[in-house]
Amino acid sequence: MSYAKVKGTYDVLPSETKKWQALEKHIRLLFEKYNYQEIRTPLIEHSEVFHRSNEHSDMVTKETYNFTDRSGRALTLRPEGTAGVVRSFIENKLYASQALEKLYYVGPNFRYERPQKGRFRQFMQFGIEALGTSSPYIDAEVIMLAYDVIKSLGLKGVKVKINSLGNNESKHNYYQALKAHFEPHKSTLCSDCQARLEKNPLRILDCKIDKNHEAVLSAPNPFDFLSAYSENYIKTVLSTLNEVKIPYVLAPKLVRGLDYYSETVFEIEADIDGFGAQNVLGGGGRYESLVAELGGPSMGGIGFAFGMERLLLALEAEDVDLVDDSGLDAYVIIFNQSDMPDALVLVHELRNEGLRVDLDFTEKNFKAQLKQSLKEKSMYLLILGENEIKNHMVTVKNTKTETQELIPRRIVVRKIKEYVYHE
Ligand code: HAM
Repeated sequence: MSYAKVKGTYDVLPSETKKWQALEKHIRLLFEKYNYQEIRTPLIEHSEVFHRSNEHSDMVTKETYNFTDRSGRALTLRPEGTAGVVRSFIENKLYASQALEKLYYVGPNFRYERPQKGRFRQFMQFGIEALGTSSPYIDAEVIMLAYDVIKSLGLKGVKVKINSLGNNESKHNYYQALKAHFEPHKSTLCSDCQARLEKNPLRILDCKIDKNHEAVLSAPNPFDFLSAYSENYIKTVLSTLNEVKIPYVLAPKLVRGLDYYSETVFEIEADIDGFGAQNVLGGGGRYESLVAELGGPSMGGIGFAFGMERLLLALEAEDVDLVDDSGLDAYVIIFNQSDMPDALVLVHELRNEGLRVDLDFTEKNFKAQLKQSLKEKSMYLLILGENEIKNHMVTVKNTKTETQELIPRRIVVRKIKEYVYHE
């Protein structure tokens, strides 16, 4: 029996939650600036939402948490956000109301991976999906937004990598070329890649074991197999990014870890000293068949997701602090437990005015209360001593300027509010 946390999971303790909240707040504001609206979908979906006939990625085939519920339904804990969002987009007919639906999400996902720095079995992602219309300008805007995520956070050592897999025709031609290229080397490829050669040769380019194999290094370039439509499409994406001055590099071996992609794919990589192996902060791309595959109309989408744990590591590595470290507005100090009701009335009135206020419940002496107020970084100390109570006054101390004044109890709330809001 074990009461320890499950392997690959972690607790976020109160000392860390502020960082998570600050990152989440930052991201929500940014997504809303680009007119994305939040969608919240379940953590569990019917298994077939992820296990589709042409999804052969390791992530879906080997890393999902699958189970049957008590009624025998085959369910899967979501390993990523896109398929569930697309399921909801179709089921709720969101396509009927407008031609382009801009959605964002924040939440946990589950993958049975080997845990290490920046890689967990339960991890947090935020991401976006722009569904309904296919236009290279949407791809450009989505990449602008992905870039804005890192730029607005103040991260510097970061690279945007872009590739195009092309449409079905281009993908088919590229698959054939890869098959012909790898076939003579089949026996020297790892056993997984030998199977990939039959099912999806693109995956070989992504193999961690064979990444330095001579045949992988000399593999054909997908750009040489793009149809006229796809070539034109990616050219427009790239020239638009040039116009808006988003820096990027072309990455012909970038294939992404899921099979639903077509046309534009991209990743955001941390190029930060000592950051370690899990250096892909986020990634995404276009998917032209997924909506139809999940039973919806024939329309495309594009999106991306970032891992929040990795972003927090990157922020730490680059010394970026998002947390608003201002403490309490006021801390109320008393000398006798019998003054507790008066103190609570005062605290209640201050909180009703929107101020952040606290007081001690553990019968600390004056000195210990002062120490606590310092720890809470309180801007004002409101002291209710014997004399103050008797004379209906409050001693108010500004902890920054160290100035102190005696203010009548009946106007102290108004005064403190004025002080705080005019800081
Ligand atoms: P993904 O590349 O599988 O894409 O995941 C996106 C990001 O999630 C990764 O770059 C990484 O930062 C984070 N991540 C993935 N697995 C883990 C893990 N085990 N532990 C910690 N972080 C992890 C997707 O999930 C696609 N749904 C993105 C997308 C949206 N494509 C189109 N729309």
